[in-house]
Amino acid sequence: MYSTGYHDHGTPVATAEKLVTLEIDGVPVTVPEGTSIMRAAASVGNDVPKLCATDTLKAFGSCRLCLVEIEGRRGFPASCTTLVADGIKVKTQGHKLSQLRNSVMELYLSDHPADCGSTSASARCEVHDMAAKLGVTGMRYGVGGKNHLRAAKDESNPYFTFDQSECIVCSRCVRACDEVQGTLALTIQGRGFGSKVSASQNESFFESECVSCGACVEACPTGALAEKSLIQIGQPTKVTTTTCAYCGVGCSFNAESRNDEVVRMVPNRDGHANHGHACVKGRFAYGYATHPDRITTPMIRKSIDDPWQHVTWEVAIAHAASEFKRIQAKYGRDSIGGITSSRCTNEETFLVQKLVRAAFGNNNVDTCARVCHSPTGYGLKNTIGESAGTQNFDSVMKSDAIILVGANPTEGHPVFASRMKQRLRQGAKLIVIDPREIALVKTPHVEAQLHLPVRPGTNVALFNSIAHVIVTEGLTKDDYVSERCEIDSYNKWKAFVAEDRNSPENTASSTGVKPELVREAARMYASAGNGAIYYGLGVTEHSQGSTMVMCIANLAMATGNVGREGVGINPLRGQNNVQGSCDMGSFPHEFSAYRHVSDDATRAMFEKDWGVPLLAEPGLRIPNMFEAALDGSFKGMYIQGEDPAQSDPDTHHVTAAFKAMECIVVQDLFLNETAKYAHVFLPGSSFLEKNGTFTNAERRVSPVRKVMEPRAGFEDWEITVLLSNALGYPMHYRHPSEIMDEIARLTPTFSTFSYEKLDRLGSIQWPCTDEAPEGTPTMHVGHFVRGKGKFFVTEFVPTSERATRKYPLLLTTGRILTQYNVGAQTRRTSNVTWASADVLEIHPHDAETRGIKDGDTVGLTSRSGEIVLPAQVTDRVRPGVVYTTFHFPESGANVVTTENSDWATNCPEYKVTAVEIVKVNQPSEWQKRFHEFTDHQLELLKGREATHA
Ligand code: SF4
Ligand code: SF4
Ligand code: SF4
Ligand code: FES
Repeated sequence: MYSTGYHDHGTPVATAEKLVTLEIDGVPVTVPEGTSIMRAAASVGNDVPKLCATDTLKAFGSCRLCLVEIEGRRGFPASCTTLVADGIKVKTQGHKLSQLRNSVMELYLSDHPADCGSTSASARCEVHDMAAKLGVTGMRYGVGGKNHLRAAKDESNPYFTFDQSECIVCSRCVRACDEVQGTLALTIQGRGFGSKVSASQNESFFESECVSCGACVEACPTGALAEKSLIQIGQPTKVTTTTCAYCGVGCSFNAESRNDEVVRMVPNRDGHANHGHACVKGRFAYGYATHPDRITTPMIRKSIDDPWQHVTWEVAIAHAASEFKRIQAKYGRDSIGGITSSRCTNEETFLVQKLVRAAFGNNNVDTCARVCHSPTGYGLKNTIGESAGTQNFDSVMKSDAIILVGANPTEGHPVFASRMKQRLRQGAKLIVIDPREIALVKTPHVEAQLHLPVRPGTNVALFNSIAHVIVTEGLTKDDYVSERCEIDSYNKWKAFVAEDRNSPENTASSTGVKPELVREAARMYASAGNGAIYYGLGVTEHSQGSTMVMCIANLAMATGNVGREGVGINPLRGQNNVQGSCDMGSFPHEFSAYRHVSDDATRAMFEKDWGVPLLAEPGLRIPNMFEAALDGSFKGMYIQGEDPAQSDPDTHHVTAAFKAMECIVVQDLFLNETAKYAHVFLPGSSFLEKNGTFTNAERRVSPVRKVMEPRAGFEDWEITVLLSNALGYPMHYRHPSEIMDEIARLTPTFSTFSYEKLDRLGSIQWPCTDEAPEGTPTMHVGHFVRGKGKFFVTEFVPTSERATRKYPLLLTTGRILTQYNVGAQTRRTSNVTWASADVLEIHPHDAETRGIKDGDTVGLTSRSGEIVLPAQVTDRVRPGVVYTTFHFPESGANVVTTENSDWATNCPEYKVTAVEIVKVNQPSEWQKRFHEFTDHQLELLKGREATHA
């Protein structure tokens, strides 16, 4: 057995500044006012017996096990619900207390299986432990009365079971679902011994409102709610603290394992981003790491119509290197490039960009952030001076009004959504700006004050109109602006937004939003006290994505909402390390920390450290690489942990570019869509198999630590080292910490970062410098990173992608909770139980006029292509708008998206595609070709031979 070292103090921490001193069993204890007696005792190592209390939940006081005596007071108060007071004297031990506790314990045991402890799950039972601690072995009460001992097990959830016979009705699960997750799927029904836990309206967990976050499982003190994996595999023997490899929330986990196998992922209560919470992906969907589809041997082939051949690592690496050298000799230095991965670690990403700049000798490196948050980088760098969010997640607990625009956190960033819901239930106001009625607009427990259902493609017009109201109604914070911003730029912007054409009344015909809603939203945000803006890809993935990010920055600066807790500009990042991959210099024009390659001093520093001359001209962006491939000047690519054939827009164009190249090297876990066009396959390692760091949306750098050995023999950074050495540019790292030391040496925002410090602090938000040695939770305090904040005039330029007679509907895209990005990981887990296909949401009115019913198969056509999907008729989308996800490659959502992109960064305009929908009864031509091609490639994979030449 191992220990995580976590000490449960029984009730949540109190944060009052005023301190109180009391005496517990003769020992003086000083704690903040508002602390429970239980917590005060635990803080000096005196743990009072408890069952219904745990420090992630408010005290409930139901089990009566934690009774204490207080001198001069009558009775035996529960120490979890009784707060400390100055000068009181508490006794936690004594004969009477023992008697009382023992009879409570005996009552519990009478409704608890006698063989408790016989399974791996119940072996952790706190009833069992507590009985042993209290020395209760027998019981005076029989088991013949009303109890739960014969209740059936609920096995409906793919990941956990509910065994009522082990339930002590302590309500911890109910409270966790309420207080931590905010779903309120559970209730206690009935009274006394007849009471029981019920999911929704007496449904199974699977059929209920439960979103499978696991908070109830984590809270349960018995084996009643337990992970199936724990029951199947047995008690873990090792624990490793690491970071989730799914979304940009970056939850910390204690990975519990046994014999190189993960038993369960337990959210880390000391985790700074998640504080012990998680979602269904990070908590349960890690099975892809050991899925039989994993390729664990390197493979090569001459052409994409040849069968794959298994080869040794030496052969694969030598082949890739000689092909890249051959191509450069024939077509020139710039004919190859690389794509870094936003799923890999900072260290791995840093090495790929170094390989491209130093070993390939060009700047042709880019990252998938090109297709998601590149406008965030551009917009924030220009306005406030740093390409990152301004706050930490905890900041939302101090917000008074929140604008949530183009983001759907309950699906995309669930743990942050739970935190936000906690704040909303305390009374903060929420303004949702989204074409769809996302869950946060209206749930039984949380409602947005305002929903502005903006027409896709008109965000900039809407934000200009919000700014118009703020400026013309005198709601700006002029003192803040004159102290902290460039006043000329402010005056220009003010004059621009004040123009009549930007009023809510005049923009309503474009945005589709009622003027009174805009006026109310503007007043709510500007007058709230602390106004915060959270946004997602619904902001960036537009032809005016960068302009819209500037709109957000303008608004936040004009209302004084940057530079303290509770406010700020907060991009919610999609992938686990998209912030990190950008920070590490993955863009063709920037070294780490966003320094332009043309900056002589920066380049000189890198040249000196790396010992090679570096180019001062930016290299090719991903779309330019594809263009150049089609022109015949770009012939080879090293792609680590990305799948542009599925994730990038205009699939026809992307796959044609791949077909035009001579050597594509894919480093991945599976034969993904891009690997089907590859010539060399280098088997990568999952997050469970490596050491390194990820950076989440809060700029928080967190440790990734090896739980099991790499299935294919190497961590991803080691493979890049092998390739670089074979190319003739030696790399000599022995451990990722040495790569991090180099990053710190060359990157001002990481200048005092080290693994030693990271291990000590748990996580660090950059900048981590001499001025901020332990990191920076809130940025731009006192002044902006760029010196003075700069306002930009944000003229609305309608996208050329408009609804027409031929394509009268606007398609917009998004994500669902249980699937992740291109789905390569989540599709290979039991998460497919919830969603096994992408669907098209269409408004009842649009469906009716086309004779479409719920569940019908429909063809969706744009000027780029056609796909076929099942229809879901719903008023979540407004009339004129349809919506789908892009998690399943056979749906081909990107077959229909166009080549339109953001004017500044080339980020594709995924969120607006003009389409028409018709009822059909067979797959599209593209889908037929996709299936044929996939079958062919799987045959070639099956027929692989071991050559080991
Ligand atoms: S399922 Fe677990 S947490 Fe919920 S009431 Fe029963 S014992 Fe308590
Ligand atoms: S798994 Fe999460 S959502 Fe489901 S019942 Fe438990 S706490 Fe509630
Ligand atoms: S919220 Fe994101 S980081 Fe946290 S567990 Fe879920 S997927 Fe992982
Ligand atoms: S732990 Fe205090 S009443 Fe249960």
